[in-house]
Amino acid sequence: MLVLDERLRVVLATAAAEALIGTEVPTGVLAPQLLCGEAVERPIAEALAQGLPVTGAVVRPDADGGTRLLSVSATPLVRGDTRVGWILLLGAQLEGEDPTGAVQFHGMWTGDPAMKHVFHVLRRAAPRDATVLIRGETGTGKELVARALHEASPRRDRPFAAINCAAVPGSLLESELFGHVRGAFTGAVKDHLGVFRATDGGTLFLDEVAELPLELQAKLLRVLETRTVLPVGAHAPVPVDVRIVAATHQSLRRAVERGTFRADLMYRLRVIPLFVPPLRVRVGDVALLTRKFVEELNEQSSRSEGRQVLRVAPNALEALERYPWPGNVRELRNALEYAYVIGDGPVLQVTDLPLEIVDPSAGPDAVEALPVNAPPASAPEESPEVQRIRRALERASGHRERAAQILGISRVTLWRRMRELGLDA
Ligand SMILES: Nc1ncnc2c1ncn2[C@@H]1O[C@H](COP(=O)(O)OP(=O)(O)OP(=O)(O)O)[C@@H](O)[C@H]1O
Ligand SMILES: [Mg+2]
Repeated sequence: MLVLDERLRVVLATAAAEALIGTEVPTGVLAPQLLCGEAVERPIAEALAQGLPVTGAVVRPDADGGTRLLSVSATPLVRGDTRVGWILLLGAQLEGEDPTGAVQFHGMWTGDPAMKHVFHVLRRAAPRDATVLIRGETGTGKELVARALHEASPRRDRPFAAINCAAVPGSLLESELFGHVRGAFTGAVKDHLGVFRATDGGTLFLDEVAELPLELQAKLLRVLETRTVLPVGAHAPVPVDVRIVAATHQSLRRAVERGTFRADLMYRLRVIPLFVPPLRVRVGDVALLTRKFVEELNEQSSRSEGRQVLRVAPNALEALERYPWPGNVRELRNALEYAYVIGDGPVLQVTDLPLEIVDPSAGPDAVEALPVNAPPASAPEESPEVQRIRRALERASGHRERAAQILGISRVTLWRRMRELGLDA
């Protein structure tokens, strides 16, 4: 237990608290600094500063160089209507862990303390209606996090919808979100519900929310504040009950500074901010996710009595752990699926991995960089690239989009290479 004064300075620390924190705790030290250190997100510090009771978890360095997860629950001490301090109860967190330290939350795996903290916040936030803002690089699992929030919430039996604010043209987005009435504009031949009303009672995932045009930001803010939507061309607002989960790969704060995002909307969206760390900083997750994905591929493959991988070669795992994963978990998954298709036998070899992972200087467009030479029809033996494409197509049952995904290239690139290699029969 820690007792804090109204300015969040430690007044008293029990011996058990010191043992959990792993250091002596001098009185007068600021609790957020003590507990959160230089962490990027400081949910506990922020909540305490706002005077909210809070339960969260913090990551602390361990005596033997590792990290441990501490749960923190804070209760304000109130006299009359003034807050005079806080009591913080600390505990070591072991919840749901298997012996290797891996935990699962609605289909997401991790062994990394910062990700476990994300799961913990998700578990806490799920039952409430508070708006969650997820930030993370591409492929880190933002959409998975949004779905997990929905699945863990009382709204799970109601709809979940995702709308990508960057993918829908601004002119259509308003009606996509809020609906329209017949005759509202040319082409509005019948009423349109819009995703807000279609998701009534459920969860709406607003992906790439930073891309929302400014005038729609004003309208979204009004929806969040009044809990009603005004369909395009309608005269009366309609009540809606939707929980919003928004995602962005860039900092909204910076978008506000640039003047492309409204500060009031940012505050309204980031009631519960969540940062999903990139794969390259997650401790042990490349090895853990590699194991999980290979197990998954084995399971899929066993249905067709296909390849079963029993081991990942140590040098393959080393290459995977060295690679910086700009595409994060999605890229890891694709790379493993690729290696699974390309290789044979019970060991996943380093030579099965996509070239740019083993040799990053080969670049992400290694397939495109290969010389366009060899007259394909008369070639005595198929080039490795032709073989790769053939096998990917086989595995995708001829479905090109899927084959392109397996190869980690765009559908257009695959189509072009197939034409150039004479595979477009
Ligand atoms: N922790 C995890 N455990 C297992 N699979 C994961 C995990 N995180 C992400 N994935 C997988 O990685 C892929 C990418 O996840 P997701 O689509 O949620 O990323 P994203 O952050 O929304 O990416 P983008 O910004 O490009 O839209 C998905 O196929 C998902 O199944
Ligand atoms: Mg996404």
